[in-house]
Amino acid sequence: MSTNLPTGVEKTKLVRSMFDTIAPRYQMVNRIMTLGMDHRWRRRAIRDLRLPAGSVVLDVAAGTGDFTRELARQGFTAVAADLSYGMLHAGENLPHKVQCDATTLPFASAIFQGLTCGYALRNFTDLAAVLNEMGRIVAPGGRISLLEVAEPRSGIWRAGFRIWFRHVVPFVGSLLSDRAAYRYLPLSTAYLPSAGELTRLLGEAGFVAVNHRLVMGGLSQQFLATRSR
Ligand SMILES: C[S@@+](CC[C@H](N)C(=O)[O-])C[C@H]1O[C@@H](n2cnc3c(N)ncnc32)[C@H](O)[C@@H]1O
Repeated sequence: MSTNLPTGVEKTKLVRSMFDTIAPRYQMVNRIMTLGMDHRWRRRAIRDLRLPAGSVVLDVAAGTGDFTRELARQGFTAVAADLSYGMLHAGENLPHKVQCDATTLPFASAIFQGLTCGYALRNFTDLAAVLNEMGRIVAPGGRISLLEVAEPRSGIWRAGFRIWFRHVVPFVGSLLSDRAAYRYLPLSTAYLPSAGELTRLLGEAGFVAVNHRLVMGGLSQQFLATRSR
């Protein structure tokens, strides 16, 4: 990991204030950055939970609630939890929202049948602690579906992605929102452990049948897992 990136309490403070700052325009910039494809990825990630309608699902690091709203649309009781007040405030039509740190979720153990988390793993200061919290609050047999950015592995796709993510995204972000935040975004992928390491951490947190798949040629990645009984 680059030594210029913050860690510990410094990272948590930076992440919270950065998302508070970009919250009002976050969704619009996100749509542009993913060319609107993220909706489809989220719909599939939720379907992959394979939970009965009415199940109670926690959306961790929900931000402005794209996953939360889609969960509700698909018939789940969805709860949004996020560190940034600004992000939750900017999120419309979120019936249940809680501002909290995902390392200490203010919920009783094993009360959720499902859990989603979109594009936040690299933002957590203590990823292992967050995964352990996920393992605590998801009921045995419950399912989790996590989406995160990735980098395509093959030639032209990879070159195109690098130009887009490292140059176009910071440029568009600085025009429409906050320059510093959208420069940090591509750098923050350095925090992400490998898929193998994440799979191992999920196992340690009490999850089994961990499945990792690349989405759209590796533009995004998804982890699916079941809470052990
Ligand atoms: C890139 S945004 C993703 C938001 C949303 N899940 C989505 O898919 O659009 C990352 C979110 O993680 C939240 N976050 C970062 N660290 C957190 C923590 N320790 N606890 C809870 N939320 C956190 C940020 O506030 C931010 O809203």
